[in-house]
Amino acid sequence: MNKPSLPAPDMAAEVPPDNPLTTKEGWRHFIGHEPVPPRLLTAGGRAALSPQERMREDERRREYHADLPMVNTPVIRKVTATSRLLIQLNRNQISARRGVILSGGSGTGKTTALTQLGRAHELAVRKRHPRDANRLPVVYVTVPPAATPKMLAMEFARFFGLTFPSRADITDVVDAVCATAAHVRVDLVLVDEIHNLTLTTRSGAEASDQLKYFAERLPATFAYAGMEVESKGLFAGTRGRQIAGRFVVIPATPFTHATTEDQESWRALVGTLESTLRLNHHTPGTLAGLSEYLFHRTGGMIGSLSQLIRGGAVLAVEDGTERITEELLDIVPVDYAAEQSNKRTAPAKPARKRRRAACCTSAGCPIRSRPPGTRFPPPTSAAWPPSTASTSTTSGHRSPSARSPAACAASSSPNASQHSPDAPSTPSPARCPSSAAPSPIGRCSGTSHRPAATAATPGTPAAK
Ligand SMILES: Nc1ncnc2c1ncn2[C@@H]1O[C@H](COP(=O)(O)OP(=O)(O)OP(=O)(O)O)[C@@H](O)[C@H]1O
Ligand SMILES: [Mg+2]
Repeated sequence: MNKPSLPAPDMAAEVPPDNPLTTKEGWRHFIGHEPVPPRLLTAGGRAALSPQERMREDERRREYHADLPMVNTPVIRKVTATSRLLIQLNRNQISARRGVILSGGSGTGKTTALTQLGRAHELAVRKRHPRDANRLPVVYVTVPPAATPKMLAMEFARFFGLTFPSRADITDVVDAVCATAAHVRVDLVLVDEIHNLTLTTRSGAEASDQLKYFAERLPATFAYAGMEVESKGLFAGTRGRQIAGRFVVIPATPFTHATTEDQESWRALVGTLESTLRLNHHTPGTLAGLSEYLFHRTGGMIGSLSQLIRGGAVLAVEDGTERITEELLDIVPVDYAAEQSNKRTAPAKPARKRRRAACCTSAGCPIRSRPPGTRFPPPTSAAWPPSTASTSTTSGHRSPSARSPAACAASSSPNASQHSPDAPSTPSPARCPSSAAPSPIGRCSGTSHRPAATAATPGTPAAK
């Protein structure tokens, strides 16, 4: 057998720019990366800064908002809880170990849930074995398009940094991967983009067999994520039936807005994201109040929502308004799927608003071309939908007596103290202090398998 070389673990190694999560260095970087919310200065403190210092302060906050902490969504909680149980059940099984498949549409947060599972597991293992620096409990790989068995085996090898002479055959690669995985005590294998395995082609079926072979040889729990795998034939035929008999499928779906409970859940998500903002003049609860508008703009996709809010926050720092309003959100671009969904479902806006939104996307927009530091005129209407305003307590602005846990979390968040920014900036609790009911959505702590309501403690840096 050709002997592979395994580079020594190096925490400080440069993260390769090409798909870094699928290498042990990239994965370690991800595990160690905690976005730290910047502290907001008082108006006086900000005024005392030199122009360069203010520029640096704004730049820090732009960077932070571009990379906001993750939210502990129901799908992350379900994947984490299920996998945790399976890891336990699989520990003494010598074959037919059980696994998890996360299946859903694009932008529903599958990769995020899979990687957050890996992060939570790795942090838990490190906590149990603080002195064992050689452990690599989690492997994260993606299935390349039109994967062959050797391509798949090379993905595993690449994660460990194993290199082979070009004449090495697949047996060499597989043996080296299995020996290395055993040596570093891998017990969770995350395989993303599983829909790239096409069981209907010969090489796809062989690649699937290769993955199954790894699952038999490695004493680990396997978790897969892919686009709508049920309809892609993953469970068809003899091979498919075996997968169907061993894997729990967890659907990753867009949020919906059909029932009061759905609306509360969406609003909680918006409120939690809002609570992570660090803007000087943002009024807490504004985004939670715009949750119906945000639902239409995004089609309930967490990826689109995240882009919209992060984009709005970056623009708000850039133009000096330091607050996110509906007018600002109108000019943040979202993906094509979300645009189409918005066209299908959003109520019509009054002509005045439409004109302003169209103007803001054009180069000569007087609002967008204001010099940095000057303000937007105050919003004339923040309610949504403006004319056909529903009286439902779950849409638009709500009375204080009907506050949801999410809005409550938002207003008890650091943003609630943004008008007195001397208050220390700590991440918000996931639980509404004035309510016995925990918020259904919290921040990802990354340090525990517990649900967000108990895991997201104040001051816990959020995972990324
Ligand atoms: N729990 C979360 N909290 C905050 N943002 C999230 C969360 N989940 C997903 N996102 C955001 O949504 C974006 C898309 O998520 P992700 O890549 O996990 O989706 P996906 O389902 O894997 O999409 P695809 O099928 O296209 O690979 C991420 O870049 C992230 O910014
Ligand atoms: Mg993905």
